[in-house]
Amino acid sequence: MESTGFEQNGNIMILEHPLIQHKITRLRDKNTGTAEFRKLVNEIAMLMGYEALRDLELKNIEVETPIESCQSPVIAGRKQAVVPILRAGMGMTDGILQLLPTAKVGHIGMYRDEETHMPHAYYCKLPDPINERTIIVTDPMLATGGTAVDAINFIKENGGRKIKFMCIIAAPEGLKRLSETHPDVQIYAGHLDRELNENAYICPGLGDVGDRIFGTK
Ligand code: URA
Repeated sequence: MESTGFEQNGNIMILEHPLIQHKITRLRDKNTGTAEFRKLVNEIAMLMGYEALRDLELKNIEVETPIESCQSPVIAGRKQAVVPILRAGMGMTDGILQLLPTAKVGHIGMYRDEETHMPHAYYCKLPDPINERTIIVTDPMLATGGTAVDAINFIKENGGRKIKFMCIIAAPEGLKRLSETHPDVQIYAGHLDRELNENAYICPGLGDVGDRIFGTK
């Protein structure tokens, strides 16, 4: 069967584009250095954004070509927001902003209380009016899904309605948890990996993505 370039199942879309796959292989390589890694993460985010923004609303405007005037579509309104989950999600922001330079950017940072296991947002700043925006939440690695679920809960509590989630690599466990908890959220992943290991790292994965983007250890 001819490849359609992606696999879709309910609210999950695994993008199987050759350019994305090639760049993910470069990300996996432990010898890929910080500068190249960071550039690849943004390039992949931009390629994924092309697909994730397929349903952007358009409106016709009148435009004068060298031949005649005609009605032609432009993106309607400027109501988009990119919301990276701190800190690794920030690595994907610029790639999406290349497609949508007028989008506003929010940030959300989550931690889990070690005693109560309750999620807390230690930082959350969302652009107004959040309820009117298409929100793209980014985190390169969807591992257990706990952080993504909590972050989206929090965004919904703050009024977010139309939410998409974008990750580069997903583990089956995280994908299941996120898609079942938030069936209204469209999830885009660059690749579905095999499993999580005992330390909740994705296998084969690409290691600690935050450390690799920011050059920390
Ligand atoms: N976060 C990472 O950075 N890497 C993983 O494999 C899982 C979560």
